[in-house]
Amino acid sequence: MRGRHMSILTIQPSGKTVETREGASLLELIMEAGEAIMHKCGGNAQCGSCHIFVQAGRKSVSRIGAEENARLDTIVGVGSKSRLACQAKVTGEEDITVELLGFASGL
Ligand code: FES
Repeated sequence: MRGRHMSILTIQPSGKTVETREGASLLELIMEAGEAIMHKCGGNAQCGSCHIFVQAGRKSVSRIGAEENARLDTIVGVGSKSRLACQAKVTGEEDITVELLGFASGL
């Protein structure tokens, strides 16, 4: 058992929640919560279908890497909160809120 508290991930628009784990990707956690999220390339930053918005708790999420950045550049509707769920990993203990975009994600 872990000696410290991990945060809660809240998934909008459904409002489902799941406990985070350090090092887990947001994609993994979203799927564990029972949400449908596209991940056509299997989590390799190649497809962009797992595009989400991180609405809160960005300090608890890993920084955007070069590959993710390059992929995000190709997606329509990207904003300052955009992440690829497969590339964003939990790094901190602050609660996180994400918004799923589904078919509005520009693909
Ligand atoms: S699953 Fe393909 S970019 Fe995330």
